[in-house]
Amino acid sequence: MAKKAQLVNTAPEDIDIDECMNSYTHIYSPDLLQHGCDTVIASRNLEKLTEAAKKLISATGRRCLPIAVDVRKPETITAAVEESLKTLGHIDILINNAAGNFLCPVTSLSFNAFRTVMEIDTMGTFNTSKVIYDKWFKDHGGSIVNISATLGYRGQALQVHAGSAKAANDAMTRHLAVEWGPSGVRVNTVAPGPISGTEGYRRLGGQIAETAGAYRSIPLQRAGNKTEIAHAVLYLASHAASYVTGAILVADGGAWLTSANDVEQLLGVWSAEKRKDK
Ligand code: COA
Repeated sequence: MAKKAQLVNTAPEDIDIDECMNSYTHIYSPDLLQHGCDTVIASRNLEKLTEAAKKLISATGRRCLPIAVDVRKPETITAAVEESLKTLGHIDILINNAAGNFLCPVTSLSFNAFRTVMEIDTMGTFNTSKVIYDKWFKDHGGSIVNISATLGYRGQALQVHAGSAKAANDAMTRHLAVEWGPSGVRVNTVAPGPISGTEGYRRLGGQIAETAGAYRSIPLQRAGNKTEIAHAVLYLASHAASYVTGAILVADGGAWLTSANDVEQLLGVWSAEKRKDK
């Protein structure tokens, strides 16, 4: 029994933030469509993207096109999609993972701060999905995977901006799945919990919570890692999920069911961050 428990709850290999893995044990068939596919990576900072693309090309031997995009500006997405199609010929999968977040109590959150997160997370997901659908998926089909969060399920403290934005995205997943299913487009979502080695983990007090032992209250008793989220995304993106659309796959070790929604503790993390900024 103990051995079985270890098998089902052992974290796979992972690597530090912004690095590629040195070794990887396939858990799906190595020739599953998406393993080693050509990629386009897009964000606002071309310098960081170019650096990341170099690492990906060297680790995978595949093409990786870095393109500067602000998901709040549809014209930048249109230009990026046109460039991608010109260079790579087709687009099969869209992963919407642009997000902005920080801890902040509602009383300190400015109108612009709330709007900024809504614009990046919700408008960004809509803008990108719509441009790619209109320019390619409408006629060729495709698979969209949105990266969400469980924050809105219980009204997580200090997270009204991101929780509201991701809740809208979860609804969008279902709406788009319904409207675009007949064109052969599947639309699904992965909702991660605390994932080590990520910007979100750093910004939202992940390390502090881990050090304080808070993750022992998670049913699987630990934070997740990036490889585990990659596996969840790969499942939904690939033909392994050929009859799955409009689904939200929570990959959080059961965290949202049991984790403390501890306003005082999060206010403490928020105040400490503010002091660091000064
Ligand atoms: N707490 C409270 N308000 C904050 C904040 C924080 N930590 N960081 C930014 N804001 C507010 C700003 O004060 C501003 O509001 P104001 O004009 O009323 O002062 C508003 O948010 C927009 O900030 P700005 O820095 O101009 O926006 P941006 O578009 O350059 O950056 C963010 C967007 C704020 C989301 C930024 O944190 C970001 O780019 N994040 C991307 C990466 C990320 O968050 N990853 C983690 C995902 S979990």
